[in-house]
Amino acid sequence: MKPNEPEIPAPSAPTAVTFQVPSISDGRRLWEIARDSRELDLNSSYAYVLWCRDFQNTSIVALVDGRVCGFVTGYIRPERPDTLVVWQVAVDAEQRGKRIAGQLLDGLLDRLAPDVSRMETTISPGNAASIALFTGTAGRRGLEIKSEPLFGPADFPDSHEPEDLYILAAPPR
Ligand SMILES: CC(C)(COP(=O)(O)OP(=O)(O)OC[C@H]1O[C@@H](n2cnc3c(N)ncnc32)[C@H](O)[C@@H]1OP(=O)(O)O)[C@@H](O)C(=O)NCCC(=O)NCCS
Repeated sequence: MKPNEPEIPAPSAPTAVTFQVPSISDGRRLWEIARDSRELDLNSSYAYVLWCRDFQNTSIVALVDGRVCGFVTGYIRPERPDTLVVWQVAVDAEQRGKRIAGQLLDGLLDRLAPDVSRMETTISPGNAASIALFTGTAGRRGLEIKSEPLFGPADFPDSHEPEDLYILAAPPR
């Protein structure tokens, strides 16, 4: 190729998604993704950075071309050591619809099995994508999903939407 001749771009490879345990340096991207979602409660940047240190083993990130494009943050419920509580899940808008969120949840549950077999999360009643995500995850994993009201408007000091509790657990035998 002569100097200054434009380089012909190579055909783009299929998008490769990888999943890993978050590290402190991922905290800033989690904050950005939560901010850009315009759906999640945006916590302080400090909260996301701290989460990536102290709750990294119950959280997971997805990378596309080496850049974090989605995450699940969670913790083990102190009263129920068999239960993962999913605090937040989000995927960058341009990467949605590619089953990344479903794979994030599957990857995290696979990593925590067999000690953790139940999952809880709260969802605002109007969040159809989130309800579909957790319903699909329950179906794939042979878990039963049920929901009940948890936090109502009176529990919040501001105009926060109510939050319903969703429980994914093995069906009774
Ligand atoms: C919810 C969210 C994480 C889903 O991410 P995603 O990678 O696009 O989800 P997936 O491609 O893995 O799809 C999971 C399921 O949800 C369904 N789904 C995804 N987006 C949907 C939408 N907008 N409406 C209805 N269903 C939807 C998919 O069809 C799939 O269903 P299936 O398992 O039955 O096939 C993403 O939309 C997001 O980041 N939203 C903003 C943040 C948010 O609301 N987070 C949840 C509250 S904590």
